[in-house]
Formats: sequence, C-alpha cells, structure tokens
Amino acid sequence: MVGAAMQYMYSADGRTYLDCVNNIPHAGHCHPKIVEAGQRQMARLNTNTRYLYDSMDRYAEKLLSKFPPGLNKIFFVNSGSAATDLAVRLAECHTGGCEYLVLDYAYHGNTKAAVSLSPYKFNRKGGKGKPENVTIIEVPSPGPLLGKEGAKSPHTFFAESIVGCAGQIVLPKDFMQQTVNRVRAEGGIYVADEVQTGFGRVGHKFWGFELYDVVPDIVILGKPMGNGHPMGAVVCTESIARSFETGMEFFSSFGGNPVSCEIGLAVLEVIEEEGLQENARLVGDYLLRQWALGSRQLAVGSRQYHVAEVRGSGLFLGIELIKNETGEPATEAAVHIVNEMKERGFLLSTDGPFNNVIKFKPPMCFSMENAEELAENLGRWI
Ligand SMILES: Cc1ncc(COP(=O)(O)O)c(C=O)c1O
Repeated sequence: MVGAAMQYMYSADGRTYLDCVNNIPHAGHCHPKIVEAGQRQMARLNTNTRYLYDSMDRYAEKLLSKFPPGLNKIFFVNSGSAATDLAVRLAECHTGGCEYLVLDYAYHGNTKAAVSLSPYKFNRKGGKGKPENVTIIEVPSPGPLLGKEGAKSPHTFFAESIVGCAGQIVLPKDFMQQTVNRVRAEGGIYVADEVQTGFGRVGHKFWGFELYDVVPDIVILGKPMGNGHPMGAVVCTESIARSFETGMEFFSSFGGNPVSCEIGLAVLEVIEEEGLQENARLVGDYLLRQWALGSRQLAVGSRQYHVAEVRGSGLFLGIELIKNETGEPATEAAVHIVNEMKERGFLLSTDGPFNNVIKFKPPMCFSMENAEELAENLGRWI
C-alpha cells in the first residue's frame, strides 16, 4: 500500500481498494481533521504528563462524558495491550486476587499478562496452554462457573464485548448479565475490552458493553481511539483507582501526551459531526438484512456450502460458512471468497477458530453505496 483516504486504500500497482476490514482508522484513513489536529499540536507542544497542559483535561472530560457516570477515572497509555496490562494491575490491587475468567478464543493483547488471558494465543500455535489461574468460558454458553462444583471463583471477568477472533460472536444478553452478577456476588469485577468494539462501532450503542445492559468496573480502549495514532486507555471507577494508590507511581512516557490528546479529541468530534455511530447502525443493519435474506446455499467451484450464521452489530459483522454435507467449517470457501473479493477490489479477512468466518469491520465512514457495492459483489456467493 502506498496511500489511503477515508475508506479507500491505494496500492503500489495503481489499484484502489475498498477497505472493509480495518477498524483502526476509525473515522477514515488520513481523515483531514484528525491529521490537521496532530500536525497543529506537534508544531506547538509535545511533552508528557509530568507537565500541565489543557489538552489532556479537555480530552479526558470529553471521553469520560461518553461513559456511565460511575466510570470516571482514566489512565492514558499507547496501545490496547498496555491498557490490558494496566487493567490487570488495577484488578489485582482492587480484588486482592489473580483468578481470571476469560471467554474462549479471546484476544487481549501482546504483553505477558495479556497473552495469559488470551486463549486465542495460549491455546494455539506456539502457546504454552492455559495458565492455572485462568478459567475459560465457552462462548456462548451458560459458562463453567455458574454453579459447577469445583469451579474457582474468579476475581476478574475479562471480556471483549463482541468476541472478534472467535468469529465476531455477539454474546447472549442473559449470559453476560448472569456472568457479571455471579462474579460480582463473589466479590469479583468485570473488565470490558472495547479495543475493537468501542467508539460507536456497534451502531446501536456507543460502547459494545451497552448492548448487554451491563456496566463494567474497568474498560480498556485502544485501536480506534487515535484513528491509527498509537493510543490506549483504561477507564475505571473511583474505588478501583483508589485501590491503585499504593504509593508506587504510574507513569507512561507517551500516554496522554498533548499530540495524542488533540488527535483523540478530534476523533470524538468527527464521530459526532459526521454521525458515524448512526451510519454504523444504518449500514450495519442493511448488510445484516441483505446477507440474512441472501441465499443460504452457495457454490464455490463444484462444492456446495451453507451460510451458518450472519452476526454482529453495526460495522462489526461476520458471516460463518459451513460445508453442506457435514456441517464442518468451510475454511477453504471463506478463504477463496476473501481472495476473490480482493481481486475485485474489496479487502476482507477471515477469522474464528477454523478461519471460516468472513470478517467485516471497515472504517466508520463506510457508506450505504459502499455497502450496496459490497453486497452486490459478495452476492455472487452469498
Ligand atoms: C480485543 C483486543 N484487545 C486488545 C488488543 C491489543 O491492542 P494493541 O494491538 O493495540 O496492543 C487487540 C488487538 O488486536 C484486540 O483486538
């Protein structure tokens, strides 16, 4: 790739692609207002949080206004992984324990602590298996801890709001509510990973956890926050922040620097000014309808496949393919379609335990016309 603008990417051989799978440039690749905010602040002042400057206060206030009132403390870092790592430290200070409950196929980042909470990593190639202090809950299911004898009481339940690497799994509302209630009844807390699903992406709500009517104790943020500029954050309750006041300072050289704060502020403004959450709702609902209405049967070469499920919310969707005869995952069909779509100028990807889920999570400026074009081209199969 040699360039990009909004939902389009340009390759060295002169082709234009419609980016249907990059949720990091949230408002659009190289969005002019966000680029300008970064350039302006970079030329004015860039320093760290040992100094006082307005940008951080303005950004923190604006960002916290998007959360339920109890979530009113924020720590700034530079990646989703650093946010997970810090959330683990906060959780352990607050609960006094290190037993975790995680969703199967979850991914929470690349630090040692984050990998230890990520079955997507520790249970796959090169992984060392499940750590002793971690319990895995299958998705979606009533869960191993709900009343099972011998199940350890988790101190912290860590959950992506829609489980991306598991294949865009939306969790049942009662599952989330029961799991959170159960963990809390035993003195534990709930950490929502909004690195993929936050900032209006799920369309119907600003945060993914709001789809389930649950309020987390800690929320971790990343990817879309800086539209590609490396930013992350941990948002938590006052009492959790207090538990972290051990005397040991928390300092991040780059977290919350003025350039990042101005960029983050511009991202929030663009989401509002351009109605991006509403766009995600309308375009996402349209695609869900199209794909649900489309033929459930599809042929790739001489073989027949079946759309097992179309799922997700807003601009965070997945299409799961299975083999007709056996109901087994149709990995080869999903990969074939994604490759063919690339030839047609549409960038998609596959994910899920068997790589048989076609994944869709484009920049939020993805328009209805783009959606129609995508549905028409994908319509050859689905
Ligand atoms: C759900 C989730 N959490 C955390 C992370 C880690 O974020 P980063 O790559 O910014 O460290 C990712 C990255 O893919 C993610 O998808």
